[in-house]
Amino acid sequence: MEPAPRKVFVKTYGCQMNVYDSARMRDVLAPLGYSETTTPEDADLVILNTCHIREKAAEKVYSEIGRLRRLKRARAEQGGEMLIAVAGCVAQAEGEEIVRRAPSVDLVFGPQGYHRLPQLLARKKSGEGPVVETEFPAEDKFETLRTGQLAGKGVAAFLTVQEGCDKFCTFCVVPYTRGAEASRPREQIMAEARRLAAQGVREITLLGQNVNAYHGSDGGGRTMGLAGLVAELSSIPGIERLRYTTSHPRDMTEDLIAAHAGNPKLMPYLHLPVQSGSDTILKAMNRGHTAADYMRLIDKIRRAKPDIAMSGDFIVGFPGETEKDFESTLQIIRDTGYASAFSFKYSPRPGTPAADMAVQVPEAEKDARLQALQKLVTAQQTAFNRQMVGRTLPVLLEKPGRDPGQLVGKSPYLQPVHVSGGPHLIGMIVDAHITGVGSNSLSGHYDQAV
Ligand code: 5AD
Ligand code: SF4
Repeated sequence: MEPAPRKVFVKTYGCQMNVYDSARMRDVLAPLGYSETTTPEDADLVILNTCHIREKAAEKVYSEIGRLRRLKRARAEQGGEMLIAVAGCVAQAEGEEIVRRAPSVDLVFGPQGYHRLPQLLARKKSGEGPVVETEFPAEDKFETLRTGQLAGKGVAAFLTVQEGCDKFCTFCVVPYTRGAEASRPREQIMAEARRLAAQGVREITLLGQNVNAYHGSDGGGRTMGLAGLVAELSSIPGIERLRYTTSHPRDMTEDLIAAHAGNPKLMPYLHLPVQSGSDTILKAMNRGHTAADYMRLIDKIRRAKPDIAMSGDFIVGFPGETEKDFESTLQIIRDTGYASAFSFKYSPRPGTPAADMAVQVPEAEKDARLQALQKLVTAQQTAFNRQMVGRTLPVLLEKPGRDPGQLVGKSPYLQPVHVSGGPHLIGMIVDAHITGVGSNSLSGHYDQAV
Protein backbone atom coordinates (compact mmCIF):
# COMPACT_ATOMS: atom_id res chain seq x y z
CA MET A 1 0.00 0.00 0.00
CA GLU A 2 1.24 3.47 -0.87
CA PRO A 3 1.80 5.62 2.21
CA ALA A 4 -0.43 8.71 2.56
CA PRO A 5 1.17 11.80 1.00
CA ARG A 6 2.67 14.13 3.60
CA LYS A 7 4.96 17.08 3.61
CA VAL A 8 8.20 17.79 5.41
CA PHE A 9 9.89 21.15 5.84
CA VAL A 10 13.55 21.04 6.87
CA LYS A 11 15.23 24.24 8.04
CA THR A 12 19.00 23.96 7.97
CA TYR A 13 21.38 26.00 10.09
CA GLY A 14 25.18 25.98 10.04
CA CYS A 15 27.67 24.02 8.02
CA GLN A 16 27.69 22.07 4.77
CA MET A 17 27.49 18.82 6.65
CA ASN A 18 24.12 19.93 7.96
CA VAL A 19 23.05 20.65 4.37
CA TYR A 20 24.07 17.10 3.47
CA ASP A 21 22.36 15.67 6.55
CA SER A 22 19.13 17.53 5.75
CA ALA A 23 19.11 15.95 2.30
CA ARG A 24 19.66 12.52 3.88
CA MET A 25 16.73 13.09 6.25
CA ARG A 26 14.50 13.89 3.28
CA ASP A 27 15.73 10.70 1.58
CA VAL A 28 14.92 8.59 4.63
CA LEU A 29 11.44 10.12 4.84
CA ALA A 30 10.52 9.75 1.14
CA PRO A 31 9.47 6.07 1.42
CA LEU A 32 7.07 7.11 4.20
CA GLY A 33 5.25 9.37 1.76
CA TYR A 34 6.92 12.64 2.75
CA SER A 35 7.70 15.09 0.00
CA GLU A 36 9.55 18.33 0.51
CA THR A 37 7.85 21.68 1.03
CA THR A 38 9.55 25.05 1.25
CA THR A 39 7.33 26.60 3.94
CA PRO A 40 6.36 25.36 7.39
CA GLU A 41 2.73 26.47 6.79
CA ASP A 42 1.75 23.35 4.84
CA ALA A 43 4.14 20.91 6.51
CA ASP A 44 3.06 17.85 8.48
CA LEU A 45 6.55 17.58 9.90
CA VAL A 46 9.00 20.42 10.53
CA ILE A 47 12.62 19.54 11.23
CA LEU A 48 15.03 22.15 12.54
CA ASN A 49 18.52 20.93 11.71
CA THR A 50 20.47 23.01 14.17
CA CYS A 51 24.02 24.27 14.66
CA HIS A 52 25.81 24.80 17.96
CA ILE A 53 29.18 26.13 16.82
CA ARG A 54 28.83 29.80 17.81
CA GLU A 55 26.69 32.47 19.42
CA LYS A 56 23.23 32.06 20.75
CA ALA A 57 22.39 29.13 18.50
CA ALA A 58 20.17 27.47 21.08
CA GLU A 59 18.27 30.71 21.69
CA LYS A 60 17.59 31.09 17.97
CA VAL A 61 16.17 27.59 17.90
CA TYR A 62 13.87 28.29 20.86
CA SER A 63 12.46 31.40 19.23
CA GLU A 64 11.88 29.49 15.97
CA ILE A 65 10.06 26.81 17.98
CA GLY A 66 7.91 29.59 19.48
CA ARG A 67 6.81 30.63 15.98
CA LEU A 68 6.15 27.05 14.95
CA ARG A 69 4.09 26.41 18.08
CA ARG A 70 1.50 28.89 16.86
CA LEU A 71 1.27 27.09 13.51
CA LYS A 72 1.00 23.78 15.30
CA ARG A 73 -1.85 25.07 17.44
CA ALA A 74 -3.72 26.51 14.44
CA ARG A 75 -3.36 23.16 12.66
CA ALA A 76 -4.72 21.28 15.67
CA GLU A 77 -7.74 23.61 15.77
CA GLN A 78 -8.50 22.54 12.19
CA GLY A 79 -8.29 18.90 13.27
CA GLY A 80 -4.84 18.38 11.72
CA GLU A 81 -1.41 17.67 13.09
CA MET A 82 2.03 19.17 12.71
CA LEU A 83 5.04 17.52 14.31
CA ILE A 84 8.06 19.55 15.36
CA ALA A 85 11.48 17.87 15.41
CA VAL A 86 14.80 19.32 16.56
CA ALA A 87 17.83 17.62 15.01
CA GLY A 88 21.52 18.50 14.71
CA CYS A 89 24.10 19.72 17.17
CA VAL A 90 21.83 21.77 19.48
CA ALA A 91 19.66 18.66 19.84
CA GLN A 92 22.73 16.62 20.70
CA ALA A 93 24.00 19.18 23.20
CA GLU A 94 20.69 20.05 24.87
CA GLY A 95 18.82 16.72 24.68
CA GLU A 96 15.94 16.47 27.19
CA GLU A 97 16.33 20.14 28.06
CA ILE A 98 14.64 21.02 24.76
CA VAL A 99 11.36 19.26 25.54
CA ARG A 100 11.43 20.62 29.07
CA ARG A 101 11.73 24.18 27.81
CA ALA A 102 9.59 23.70 24.70
CA PRO A 103 6.86 21.10 25.27
CA SER A 104 5.53 21.61 21.73
CA VAL A 105 8.58 19.73 20.41
CA ASP A 106 7.76 16.12 19.48
CA LEU A 107 11.13 14.70 18.52
CA VAL A 108 14.73 15.44 19.49
CA PHE A 109 17.62 13.53 17.93
CA GLY A 110 21.30 14.19 17.28
CA PRO A 111 23.41 13.86 14.11
CA GLN A 112 23.91 10.13 14.61
CA GLY A 113 20.19 9.34 14.66
CA TYR A 114 18.95 10.43 11.22
CA HIS A 115 18.66 6.95 9.77
CA ARG A 116 16.36 6.02 12.68
CA LEU A 117 13.90 8.78 11.88
CA PRO A 118 11.17 6.38 10.63
CA GLN A 119 11.31 4.42 13.91
CA LEU A 120 11.32 7.61 15.98
CA LEU A 121 8.27 8.87 14.06
CA ALA A 122 6.50 5.55 14.53
CA ARG A 123 7.12 5.73 18.28
CA LYS A 124 5.70 9.23 18.36
CA LYS A 125 2.66 8.22 16.30
CA SER A 126 1.95 5.25 18.54
CA GLY A 127 1.16 7.70 21.30
CA GLU A 128 4.48 8.12 23.07
CA GLY A 129 5.21 11.55 24.54
CA PRO A 130 8.17 13.53 23.22
CA VAL A 131 10.81 11.18 21.82
CA VAL A 132 14.38 12.16 22.71
CA GLU A 133 17.25 10.09 21.26
CA THR A 134 20.84 11.26 21.31
CA GLU A 135 22.69 8.01 21.85
CA PHE A 136 23.44 6.38 18.49
CA PRO A 137 26.94 5.32 17.46
CA ALA A 138 28.12 6.92 14.19
CA GLU A 139 28.86 3.57 12.53
CA ASP A 140 25.16 2.62 12.61
CA LYS A 141 24.21 5.68 10.66
CA PHE A 142 26.85 5.11 7.98
CA GLU A 143 25.80 1.49 7.65
CA THR A 144 22.15 2.37 7.09
CA LEU A 145 22.73 5.39 4.89
CA ARG A 146 24.19 3.02 2.34
CA THR A 147 20.72 1.96 1.26
CA GLY A 148 19.37 5.50 1.22
CA GLN A 149 18.21 7.03 -2.03
CA LEU A 150 19.72 10.26 -3.17
CA ALA A 151 17.81 13.41 -3.81
CA GLY A 152 19.71 14.02 -7.04
CA LYS A 153 19.71 17.70 -7.82
CA GLY A 154 22.29 19.83 -9.48
CA VAL A 155 25.72 19.12 -10.87
CA ALA A 156 27.68 19.75 -7.67
CA ALA A 157 27.03 17.62 -4.61
CA PHE A 158 28.31 17.05 -1.10
CA LEU A 159 29.30 13.63 0.15
CA THR A 160 30.13 13.00 3.80
CA VAL A 161 33.14 10.72 4.12
CA GLN A 162 34.14 11.36 7.70
CA GLU A 163 32.41 12.76 10.72
CA GLY A 164 33.38 13.88 14.19
CA CYS A 165 36.69 15.02 15.59
CA ASP A 166 39.27 13.82 18.11
CA LYS A 167 41.37 17.00 18.11
CA PHE A 168 39.62 18.80 20.98
CA CYS A 169 40.54 22.38 20.16
CA THR A 170 39.67 24.12 23.42
CA PHE A 171 37.08 26.46 21.84
CA CYS A 172 35.14 23.88 19.86
CA VAL A 173 31.97 21.89 20.59
CA VAL A 174 32.32 19.56 17.60
CA PRO A 175 34.02 16.68 19.45
CA TYR A 176 31.07 16.73 21.87
CA THR A 177 28.19 17.18 19.41
CA ARG A 178 29.43 15.18 16.42
CA GLY A 179 31.36 12.72 18.54
CA ALA A 180 34.58 10.81 17.92
CA GLU A 181 36.13 10.68 14.50
CA ALA A 182 34.57 8.04 12.27
CA SER A 183 35.24 7.34 8.60
CA ARG A 184 32.86 5.68 6.16
CA PRO A 185 34.22 2.60 4.39
CA ARG A 186 35.55 3.19 0.88
CA GLU A 187 32.95 1.01 -0.84
CA GLN A 188 30.02 2.96 0.63
CA ILE A 189 31.53 6.19 -0.57
CA MET A 190 32.31 4.82 -4.03
CA ALA A 191 28.76 3.50 -4.39
CA GLU A 192 27.29 6.85 -3.41
CA ALA A 193 29.64 8.71 -5.76
CA ARG A 194 28.71 6.40 -8.66
CA ARG A 195 25.02 7.05 -8.00
CA LEU A 196 25.68 10.79 -7.93
CA ALA A 197 27.58 10.56 -11.22
CA ALA A 198 24.72 8.60 -12.78
CA GLN A 199 22.34 11.39 -11.73
CA GLY A 200 24.42 14.00 -13.53
CA VAL A 201 26.69 15.20 -10.74
CA ARG A 202 30.06 16.39 -12.07
CA GLU A 203 31.64 17.83 -8.95
CA ILE A 204 31.78 16.26 -5.49
CA THR A 205 32.87 17.98 -2.32
CA LEU A 206 33.95 15.44 0.27
CA LEU A 207 32.82 16.53 3.70
CA GLY A 208 34.17 15.89 7.16
CA GLN A 209 34.89 17.96 10.25
CA ASN A 210 38.42 16.64 9.90
CA VAL A 211 38.20 15.37 6.38
CA ASN A 212 41.92 14.89 5.81
CA ALA A 213 42.06 12.59 8.85
CA TYR A 214 39.92 10.20 6.75
CA HIS A 215 40.96 6.59 7.32
CA GLY A 216 38.22 4.36 5.96
CA SER A 217 38.28 0.63 5.54
CA ASP A 218 39.42 -0.38 2.04
CA GLY A 219 37.46 -3.62 2.25
CA GLY A 220 40.65 -5.71 2.32
CA GLY A 221 41.34 -5.36 6.02
CA ARG A 222 43.35 -2.18 5.66
CA THR A 223 42.57 1.49 5.95
CA MET A 224 42.86 4.06 3.24
CA GLY A 225 43.66 7.76 3.61
CA LEU A 226 42.05 10.70 1.84
CA ALA A 227 44.67 10.73 -0.95
CA GLY A 228 43.80 7.12 -1.83
CA LEU A 229 40.10 7.86 -1.72
CA VAL A 230 40.50 10.88 -3.99
CA ALA A 231 42.47 8.76 -6.47
CA GLU A 232 39.71 6.15 -6.61
CA LEU A 233 36.92 8.69 -6.86
CA SER A 234 38.59 10.42 -9.77
CA SER A 235 38.38 7.21 -11.78
CA ILE A 236 34.57 7.33 -11.76
CA PRO A 237 33.35 8.32 -15.23
CA GLY A 238 31.45 11.61 -15.13
CA ILE A 239 33.13 12.90 -11.98
CA GLU A 240 35.21 15.78 -13.28
CA ARG A 241 35.99 17.69 -10.10
CA LEU A 242 36.75 16.83 -6.50
CA ARG A 243 37.09 19.04 -3.44
CA TYR A 244 37.29 18.36 0.27
CA THR A 245 36.60 20.37 3.38
CA THR A 246 37.47 21.02 6.24
CA SER A 247 41.09 20.10 6.75
CA HIS A 248 43.39 20.29 9.73
CA PRO A 249 47.03 21.34 9.17
CA ARG A 250 48.26 18.35 11.18
CA ASP A 251 46.65 15.88 8.78
CA MET A 252 47.99 17.39 5.55
CA THR A 253 49.94 14.29 4.55
CA GLU A 254 52.63 14.06 1.86
CA ASP A 255 50.47 11.87 -0.35
CA LEU A 256 47.56 14.33 -0.15
CA ILE A 257 49.87 17.20 -1.13
CA ALA A 258 51.18 15.02 -3.97
CA ALA A 259 47.59 14.43 -5.10
CA HIS A 260 47.19 18.19 -5.57
CA ALA A 261 50.25 18.18 -7.80
CA GLY A 262 49.35 15.09 -9.81
CA ASN A 263 45.57 14.82 -10.02
CA PRO A 264 43.93 17.40 -12.31
CA LYS A 265 40.47 16.51 -10.98
CA LEU A 266 41.41 17.68 -7.50
CA MET A 267 40.59 21.38 -7.56
CA PRO A 268 43.36 23.87 -6.69
CA TYR A 269 41.56 25.31 -3.70
CA LEU A 270 42.25 24.35 -0.13
CA HIS A 271 40.38 25.31 3.02
CA LEU A 272 43.02 24.97 5.72
CA PRO A 273 42.08 26.84 8.89
CA VAL A 274 44.84 28.11 11.17
CA GLN A 275 42.54 30.08 13.57
CA SER A 276 45.32 32.33 14.92
CA GLY A 277 48.84 33.46 14.03
CA SER A 278 50.07 33.63 17.62
CA ASP A 279 51.94 30.66 19.07
CA THR A 280 50.67 31.47 22.57
CA ILE A 281 47.07 31.38 21.38
CA LEU A 282 47.59 28.32 19.15
CA LYS A 283 48.92 26.51 22.21
CA ALA A 284 45.99 27.62 24.38
CA MET A 285 43.68 26.47 21.59
CA ASN A 286 45.37 23.03 21.61
CA ARG A 287 45.93 23.20 17.86
CA GLY A 288 49.11 21.14 18.08
CA HIS A 289 51.20 23.28 15.71
CA THR A 290 52.89 26.67 15.58
CA ALA A 291 52.49 29.55 13.14
CA ALA A 292 55.85 28.62 11.58
CA ASP A 293 54.69 25.00 11.12
CA TYR A 294 51.68 26.31 9.23
CA MET A 295 53.78 28.59 7.02
CA ARG A 296 56.17 25.75 6.21
CA LEU A 297 53.18 23.63 5.25
CA ILE A 298 51.78 26.34 3.00
CA ASP A 299 55.18 26.63 1.30
CA LYS A 300 55.29 22.91 0.71
CA ILE A 301 51.75 22.86 -0.72
CA ARG A 302 52.53 25.81 -3.00
CA ARG A 303 55.72 24.18 -4.22
CA ALA A 304 53.65 21.14 -5.17
CA LYS A 305 50.81 23.16 -6.70
CA PRO A 306 51.81 26.76 -7.39
CA ASP A 307 48.36 27.96 -8.48
CA ILE A 308 46.54 26.63 -5.41
CA ALA A 309 44.23 29.14 -3.70
CA MET A 310 44.06 29.12 0.08
CA SER A 311 41.10 29.66 2.32
CA GLY A 312 40.96 29.69 6.11
CA ASP A 313 39.05 30.24 9.34
CA PHE A 314 40.05 32.72 12.04
CA ILE A 315 38.88 33.35 15.56
CA VAL A 316 39.45 36.77 17.15
CA GLY A 317 39.22 37.42 20.86
CA PHE A 318 40.10 33.94 22.08
CA PRO A 319 40.59 34.17 25.90
CA GLY A 320 43.86 35.91 26.72
CA GLU A 321 44.42 37.22 23.16
CA THR A 322 46.47 40.43 23.38
CA GLU A 323 46.94 43.14 20.74
CA LYS A 324 50.28 41.55 19.97
CA ASP A 325 48.71 38.11 19.48
CA PHE A 326 46.13 39.66 17.19
CA GLU A 327 48.86 41.42 15.21
CA SER A 328 50.46 37.98 14.64
CA THR A 329 47.16 36.80 13.19
CA LEU A 330 47.11 39.72 10.76
CA GLN A 331 50.70 38.87 9.86
CA ILE A 332 49.97 35.22 9.05
CA ILE A 333 47.13 36.42 6.83
CA ARG A 334 49.48 38.82 5.01
CA ASP A 335 52.10 36.09 4.67
CA THR A 336 49.70 33.45 3.38
CA GLY A 337 47.48 35.53 1.09
CA TYR A 338 43.97 34.09 1.16
CA ALA A 339 41.51 33.82 -1.71
CA SER A 340 38.78 33.82 0.92
CA ALA A 341 38.48 33.41 4.67
CA PHE A 342 35.85 33.06 7.35
CA SER A 343 36.35 34.93 10.58
CA PHE A 344 34.50 34.81 13.84
CA LYS A 345 34.44 36.44 17.23
CA TYR A 346 35.27 33.90 19.89
CA SER A 347 32.07 32.60 21.42
CA PRO A 348 32.30 30.66 24.69
CA ARG A 349 30.70 27.23 24.25
CA PRO A 350 29.38 25.66 27.44
CA GLY A 351 31.39 22.59 28.39
CA THR A 352 34.52 23.49 26.40
CA PRO A 353 37.80 24.30 28.24
CA ALA A 354 38.18 27.81 26.75
CA ALA A 355 34.79 28.89 28.11
CA ASP A 356 36.24 28.63 31.63
CA MET A 357 39.51 30.44 30.90
CA ALA A 358 40.05 33.39 33.20
CA VAL A 359 40.78 36.27 30.83
CA GLN A 360 37.91 36.70 28.41
CA VAL A 361 38.33 39.48 25.83
CA PRO A 362 35.76 42.31 26.03
CA GLU A 363 33.10 42.31 23.29
CA ALA A 364 34.12 45.77 21.97
CA GLU A 365 37.69 44.54 21.52
CA LYS A 366 36.47 41.47 19.62
CA ASP A 367 34.36 43.71 17.37
CA ALA A 368 37.28 45.98 16.56
CA ARG A 369 39.61 43.05 15.82
CA LEU A 370 37.04 41.32 13.67
CA GLN A 371 36.58 44.48 11.61
CA ALA A 372 40.30 44.95 11.11
CA LEU A 373 40.77 41.31 10.14
CA GLN A 374 37.85 41.32 7.73
CA LYS A 375 39.14 44.47 6.06
CA LEU A 376 42.44 42.74 5.35
CA VAL A 377 40.81 39.54 4.14
CA THR A 378 38.36 41.40 1.89
CA ALA A 379 41.26 43.30 0.31
CA GLN A 380 43.04 40.01 -0.37
CA GLN A 381 39.91 38.44 -1.78
CA THR A 382 39.25 41.40 -4.08
CA ALA A 383 42.85 41.34 -5.30
CA PHE A 384 42.59 37.59 -5.91
CA ASN A 385 39.39 37.98 -7.91
CA ARG A 386 40.80 40.88 -9.95
CA GLN A 387 43.76 38.76 -11.00
CA MET A 388 41.34 36.53 -12.87
CA VAL A 389 40.47 39.20 -15.44
CA GLY A 390 42.12 38.33 -18.73
CA ARG A 391 42.58 34.68 -17.76
CA THR A 392 40.75 31.70 -19.16
CA LEU A 393 39.22 29.46 -16.50
CA PRO A 394 37.40 26.16 -16.81
CA VAL A 395 33.89 26.83 -15.53
CA LEU A 396 31.44 24.11 -14.53
CA LEU A 397 28.01 25.43 -15.51
CA GLU A 398 25.66 24.81 -12.59
CA LYS A 399 22.36 26.67 -12.91
CA PRO A 400 20.44 29.47 -14.65
CA GLY A 401 21.57 32.97 -13.74
CA ARG A 402 19.41 35.90 -12.72
CA ASP A 403 18.76 37.08 -16.27
CA PRO A 404 17.26 34.90 -19.00
CA GLY A 405 19.91 33.41 -21.25
CA GLN A 406 22.45 33.55 -18.46
CA LEU A 407 24.11 30.72 -16.57
CA VAL A 408 26.17 30.62 -13.39
CA GLY A 409 29.02 28.23 -12.92
CA LYS A 410 32.04 27.78 -10.69
CA SER A 411 35.70 28.36 -11.38
CA PRO A 412 38.26 25.93 -9.93
CA TYR A 413 38.68 28.51 -7.14
CA LEU A 414 35.01 28.35 -6.12
CA GLN A 415 34.22 31.73 -7.64
CA PRO A 416 30.75 32.05 -9.17
CA VAL A 417 31.15 32.91 -12.88
CA HIS A 418 28.34 34.41 -14.98
CA VAL A 419 28.30 33.55 -18.68
CA SER A 420 25.61 33.54 -21.34
CA GLY A 421 24.06 30.26 -22.40
CA GLY A 422 20.92 28.15 -22.30
CA PRO A 423 19.93 25.57 -19.67
CA HIS A 424 20.92 22.67 -21.97
CA LEU A 425 24.56 23.53 -21.18
CA ILE A 426 24.20 22.90 -17.44
CA GLY A 427 26.68 20.24 -16.38
CA MET A 428 29.28 21.17 -19.00
CA ILE A 429 32.69 22.64 -18.34
CA VAL A 430 33.52 25.56 -20.64
CA ASP A 431 36.72 27.53 -20.96
CA ALA A 432 35.55 30.99 -20.00
CA HIS A 433 37.54 34.08 -20.80
CA ILE A 434 37.12 36.28 -17.74
CA THR A 435 36.22 39.85 -18.60
CA GLY A 436 34.61 41.27 -15.47
CA VAL A 437 34.78 41.09 -11.71
CA GLY A 438 32.03 41.92 -9.23
CA SER A 439 32.19 41.99 -5.45
CA ASN A 440 31.86 38.23 -5.14
CA SER A 441 31.69 36.87 -8.64
CA LEU A 442 33.24 36.97 -12.09
CA SER A 443 31.78 37.26 -15.56
CA GLY A 444 33.12 36.00 -18.83
CA HIS A 445 32.41 34.45 -22.20
CA TYR A 446 33.49 31.38 -24.11
CA ASP A 447 34.17 31.07 -27.79
CA GLN A 448 33.05 27.78 -29.21
CA ALA A 449 29.38 26.84 -29.43
CA VAL A 450 29.15 23.83 -27.11
N1 5AD B 1 33.85 30.62 18.68
C1 5AD B 1 34.12 31.20 17.50
N2 5AD B 1 34.39 30.51 16.38
C2 5AD B 1 34.41 29.16 16.47
N3 5AD B 1 34.64 28.22 15.55
C3 5AD B 1 34.52 27.01 16.14
N4 5AD B 1 34.20 27.17 17.43
C4 5AD B 1 34.15 28.50 17.68
C5 5AD B 1 33.85 29.28 18.82
N5 5AD B 1 33.62 28.73 20.00
C6 5AD B 1 35.01 28.52 14.17
C7 5AD B 1 36.41 27.98 13.84
C8 5AD B 1 36.11 26.80 12.98
C9 5AD B 1 34.82 27.22 12.30
C10 5AD B 1 34.03 26.13 11.70
O1 5AD B 1 34.10 27.88 13.30
O2 5AD B 1 37.10 28.97 13.11
O3 5AD B 1 37.13 26.51 12.05
FE1 SF4 C 1 36.66 21.72 16.25
FE2 SF4 C 1 38.03 21.55 13.94
FE3 SF4 C 1 39.35 21.71 16.29
FE4 SF4 C 1 38.00 19.47 15.65
S1 SF4 C 1 39.83 20.34 14.60
S2 SF4 C 1 37.98 20.49 17.64
S3 SF4 C 1 36.21 20.32 14.54
S4 SF4 C 1 38.02 23.28 15.33
